[in-house]
Amino acid sequence: MTTAVIGVGNIGKGVITGLARGGEKLLIANRTDSKAEALAAELGEGVTAVSIDEAVERADTIILAIWFADQQKFITERGAELAGKLIIDPSNPIGFDDKGQVFRTVDDGVSSGQLNRDSLADGVKFAKAFGTLSADSLASGANKDPKVALFYASDENTAGQGAGNAGAKGEIDSEVERLISVAGFTPVKAGSIDEASLRIEVLGDLHPFGGLNGVDPTEDTAKELLAK
Ligand SMILES: NC(=O)c1ccc[n+]([C@@H]2O[C@H](COP(=O)([O-])OP(=O)(O)OC[C@H]3O[C@@H](n4cnc5c(N)ncnc54)[C@H](OP(=O)(O)O)[C@@H]3O)[C@@H](O)[C@H]2O)c1
Repeated sequence: MTTAVIGVGNIGKGVITGLARGGEKLLIANRTDSKAEALAAELGEGVTAVSIDEAVERADTIILAIWFADQQKFITERGAELAGKLIIDPSNPIGFDDKGQVFRTVDDGVSSGQLNRDSLADGVKFAKAFGTLSADSLASGANKDPKVALFYASDENTAGQGAGNAGAKGEIDSEVERLISVAGFTPVKAGSIDEASLRIEVLGDLHPFGGLNGVDPTEDTAKELLAK
């Protein structure tokens, strides 16, 4: 399985660094190629900078670490080219007003995860993950004791099985959990995209910049919150 990260900004760099330190071989790509090349040179063997086209062609899993509006463009323009691949979406649909206050850029009650999922061509696999911590917490929070939990959501195997890691894992959830673990965190499934993506996106009740009020949850805390 080949993993690519597209976007090497704040969150992309955190995800790439965590995965690379955990031993994952990665393709990385960015709109400005030189930034991906510089990060690959910094991280050394195992991280290869490629063009976006090459990342899309070679990867089985693509972590799309770019802003929601750019994701929408990417997903719709690439269309069926992404069929068979797993897209992992860390986005939070927010902007900042002229006073620096955060506002959501999509309608109330709708998540960027739902909108991205609904924009995919047939046969593209999808999960929401790696967006539940700030870039700083992602960079500094790996491999703590106890480990910090990263919530994720997907539409695989959710029917009747509840959240919080219950039930057998399909290929999407297994791969998301593998990547979260490689990066030094504990994966906790929060539910399906419709049930959970709004909750695990920024300002949601399961996000540190929302209901968790700055707390990066452990696995126990995460499961307690889901059980409520
Ligand atoms: N920052 C956080 O703490 C945080 C936390 C959780 C989730 N997120 C989410 O993560 C995503 C990225 O946020 P960020 O803070 O990392 O943003 P950022 O620092 O502004 O980085 C965005 C990156 O995306 C690249 N990019 C934009 N369009 C692209 C395209 N079409 N193809 C390839 N690369 C493209 C940019 O390339 P250039 O270098 O060429 O501009 C830049 O490297 C957002 O959806 C955000 O909501 C962020």
